[in-house]
Amino acid sequence: MVFRPAVTQKLTRRGFFKYGLRLSVLGLLGFGFSGRNNIETKQLNLRFANLPEAFDGFRIVQISDLHASFWVGKRYLDRVIARVNTLNKDLVVITGDIITGSVNDFWKRWLPSAGGGYIPVVTDVLTRLNAGPRFAVLGNHDQWDGKETETQLVGELERIGIDVLRNRSKTINRGKDRITIAGTDDVWFTYDIDRALKGVPTGNFTIVLCHSPDVREDLDTGSKVELVLCGHTHGGQVAVPFLSHHFIPIKRPKRYLAGLVKERYGYTYVNRGIGTLVFPLRIGAPPEITSIKLIRA
Ligand SMILES: [Fe+2]
Repeated sequence: MVFRPAVTQKLTRRGFFKYGLRLSVLGLLGFGFSGRNNIETKQLNLRFANLPEAFDGFRIVQISDLHASFWVGKRYLDRVIARVNTLNKDLVVITGDIITGSVNDFWKRWLPSAGGGYIPVVTDVLTRLNAGPRFAVLGNHDQWDGKETETQLVGELERIGIDVLRNRSKTINRGKDRITIAGTDDVWFTYDIDRALKGVPTGNFTIVLCHSPDVREDLDTGSKVELVLCGHTHGGQVAVPFLSHHFIPIKRPKRYLAGLVKERYGYTYVNRGIGTLVFPLRIGAPPEITSIKLIRA
């Protein structure tokens, strides 16, 4: 006996492409949804002629754009910190967007992220960081929710031993040698790079932490900063070639989309971040933990 369907539909070429396209879109969304948690650990060796001898081999681990929110929960962030804890390091830096702030009422209503509501989640996770010195700077999302959330976040980070560099610097000493770590608030808010670098002696080996690569606009002309560590771009998050950089709100998105940029003096490194924003998807721009080794050239 031969089975015959009640209605036989001929699959036309148009139908074939239509269903193929739908399947491809679904496949791509699934790929992006699972890809959002595939953390890459990037190792980087950077050479500097003026690195003080005692800091030869100094290791920095950078994480950025955690975006603790409905989509970026405790379980995933715990996994990130567990990975960071396995790495050899002398310093951990967090370059902003620790939480996801609510931009306006539209996003507050339609995107299940809750700004300050996720501060306890993220501080609970970050408490487990096993490094010595830990520095952070604020991103646009950390400042977007308003003063109350910002103050609460900074207070909680400081309470668990993370020094939030708000337009100021700190020195790390090793014997008679020292390096400076300077940090700024976000460029859209209370950013002040001049204040952050005030009092840093000329010729001192200096690392700047700033959420947005736009800080480079103020460093290119005069300041001699050896290394700038940023986030903010998410590497495009859904990195469509020739297209995604158009959606990144920085002044030179092509140059600072992601990764290492050699400057006229020193380097800039743009970390792709840990979490996601707007859509829980990452395609072609996996989440990243960066491990940077400073080498005296
Ligand atoms: Fe971000």
